[in-house]
Order: sequence, then structure tokens, then C-alpha cells
Amino acid sequence: VGRGEVMVRVGVIGAGIMGADHVRTVQRSVSGASVVMIADIDLDRAKEAAQAAPEAVTTRDWADVIASPDVDAVVVASHDTTHADVTIASIAAGKPVMCEKPLAPTGAECERVVRAEEEFLVATRAAPLVSVGFMRRFDPGYQEMKAAIAAGVCGVPLMIHCFSRGVRSVRGATTELSITNSAVHEFDVVPWLLGQPVVSASWHAPRVSAMASGQQDPQLMLLHTADGVLTTVESLMNARYGYDVRCEVIGDRGSVALSHGGHIVIDTERTRARSYPADWRMRFADAYRFELQEWIDAIGEGRPPTLASARDGMAAGIIADTVIASMKNGSRTVPVPSCSEPPSRDDRW
Ligand SMILES: NC(=O)c1ccc[n+]([C@@H]2O[C@H](COP(=O)([O-])OP(=O)(O)OC[C@H]3O[C@@H](n4cnc5c(N)ncnc54)[C@H](O)[C@@H]3O)[C@@H](O)[C@H]2O)c1
Repeated sequence: VGRGEVMVRVGVIGAGIMGADHVRTVQRSVSGASVVMIADIDLDRAKEAAQAAPEAVTTRDWADVIASPDVDAVVVASHDTTHADVTIASIAAGKPVMCEKPLAPTGAECERVVRAEEEFLVATRAAPLVSVGFMRRFDPGYQEMKAAIAAGVCGVPLMIHCFSRGVRSVRGATTELSITNSAVHEFDVVPWLLGQPVVSASWHAPRVSAMASGQQDPQLMLLHTADGVLTTVESLMNARYGYDVRCEVIGDRGSVALSHGGHIVIDTERTRARSYPADWRMRFADAYRFELQEWIDAIGEGRPPTLASARDGMAAGIIADTVIASMKNGSRTVPVPSCSEPPSRDDRW
């Protein structure tokens, strides 16, 4: 054990692309933790992920992980629609839980989690249990950007331009899913960068890419924060050329932008070429590692982790609701309900 004190025994629920990646990261790159149990409704996936954690017990049923006395803390990387129930069950068991983003696909479901945690905190006076996997908060580039904005390097921020481009959308992708599952990263990172809540949002779309399959791709979302900054969020799920996440903050004295996510530049034949990652795992590998290390350290030290909280997860979920409401209302600008009064599922539209 790196820090020599506590070994946190981690259970991972959902062993797909992200869950298997978290198992490997915890085993190989995080000190003070070990994966002891892996659940997936597809047991073969759990077993495959367990190759990186040979001591781990595998199961089909996520409730086994929460109930096991051998599991101290839970990582949730199953389907988005399972997140709220699994996270609430972890709270009921008093176990710290790192739920992958989104906390849930709607603001109302996120609110269920926030309420469950609040009731737990009132009853026990313990530390908060829920963290949300908005890992960009741990990406060195985004962290440097946040520090530069706070230091006034680009003066007073006026606009932010976010690009979120993937190689191809997953099977079953829909327009709404790219908002609740992918653009939700921007709904967390923009208020985090500025220290300001998003107060209104709208949704726009050009003609559909020939590479899209059954969904509106690309999409453009506009977010206004309380300080008057306007953010553009481009979401293009079928960019083909590579996984490409960009962010630029333009202020009245200059600009701060993330540098290119690839690792090398090739100069040949009088041409310069830079490589692109194929997906988020390589681009954000450091962020996942730093995020999980902070989560484990905080559990070991008995303090709240600096990861996004359940309320942060709910704030992003409410912005996603608002963007979808604009999409269904002719791209009107829609006010974002304040987090203290999230919309119920029925009056969202
Ligand atoms: N932070 C990030 O950058 C990031 C990146 C990718 C995915 N994610 C999130 O991680 C989660 C997993 O995404 P993925 O790309 O690995 O998807 P995936 O489809 O590859 O994996 C999901 C896994 O969950 C399993 N599963 C579904 N329902 C389950 C249940 N009830 N009990 C147990 N297992 C269940 C599936 O069998 C599958 O193996 C999603 O919530 C996604 O939004 C986050």
C-alpha cells in the first residue's frame, strides 16, 4: 500500500469499457486500494475485467457488491439508467460511491440521489458519500485553465467555446443521449471553470451529417452563466477523424485554450501531422487516475473527496433537461431552474 495506512477494498459495478478501465487503473496506478469484487449482468465481462484483478470475486448482481462486507467503497460504471438506484443503495449501506457521469439521465432522478444523501447526512452526521465521475476536473489541462482564468490571465471571461467530437456514435445513440451522456461533461466543466451557475440554455442544429445514424448530429448548445459569459458547446458524435475535445476561454485581455490532446507531432514531406486519440481513455487517462487516487485518499483519510458532488451531478442533469426542453420547443432559450427547485419529471417540458 503506497501510503502505508488503509487499504480500501473497492467493488466495481458495470464492467464494460469504462468499468474495465477503472479496474485496471485502480489495480495498476492507484495506491491504497484494491478491486475485490466486480459485477456485470454479462458475467463474461465481469470475468474479463477481473483478469486485471485476479483476487476479485465476480457476480451478475450489483446488489451483491453493495451487500458484501468485503467491499468498503463502490464504483458505478453500469448503464446510465442504473446509476440512481445503485448509488442510492450504496448510500443506504453507508458506503462511499463514485458514480460515473451522468449521476442520472434526468434532473429529477439526480434529485432522488441528492435527497437520499441529505437524509443520510442528517441521520448520521457523517461525511458525504457520493462523488460523480466528472473527470475533466482532474485533467491537468482543464486544471491549468481554471487556475489561469482565476489569475486573470485572459482578463474578464466573455465567451467559452467547447468542442466535443467523437469518432462514431455508439449503437443505439439518440439525440437526447448525446446531451445527457456526452454534452453533460460540458454542463459540469463550464460552471466549474467559471465558478458560476448556468442560468439559461438553448439548443440548435444544422443539417444532419451523412455519418450520423438516426440522430441529430452535430448539435450546438448555448449556455449563459450568471456572470454574463456565453458558452457555445458543439457536439459532434461522428467526426470520424479522431476523439477531439477542445475548450477556449476568450476574455477581454486574451485567450486560454487547451492544447491539442495528441502526444506527438510528425513533420514529413513538407507537412505537419498530429495524432488524435481514438477515444476518451487515452485523452483522459491522467484525469481518471488522479480522480480515483483522490477518491481513495479521501476515503482513507475520512474526509469529503474533491470530486464533483451529488449536487454538482444534479446541476449538470438539470442543464441537460433544459437543453432538451429547448430542443423540443423550437430552440427557444429556456431558463435553468435553480438547483434548490429542480423540475419534476412531469413538468420538464
Ligand atoms: N467519465 C467518462 O469520461 C466516461 C466515459 C465513458 C463512459 N462513461 C460512463 O460510464 C458508464 C459505462 O459506460 P461504458 O462506455 O463502459 O458502457 P458499456 O456499455 O461498455 O458498459 C456498461 C456495462 O454495464 C453493464 N450493465 C448494464 N446494466 C447493468 C446492471 N443492472 N448491473 C450490472 N451491470 C450492468 C453492461 O452489461 C456493460 O458491460 C456509463 O454511465 C457512461 O456514461 C464515462
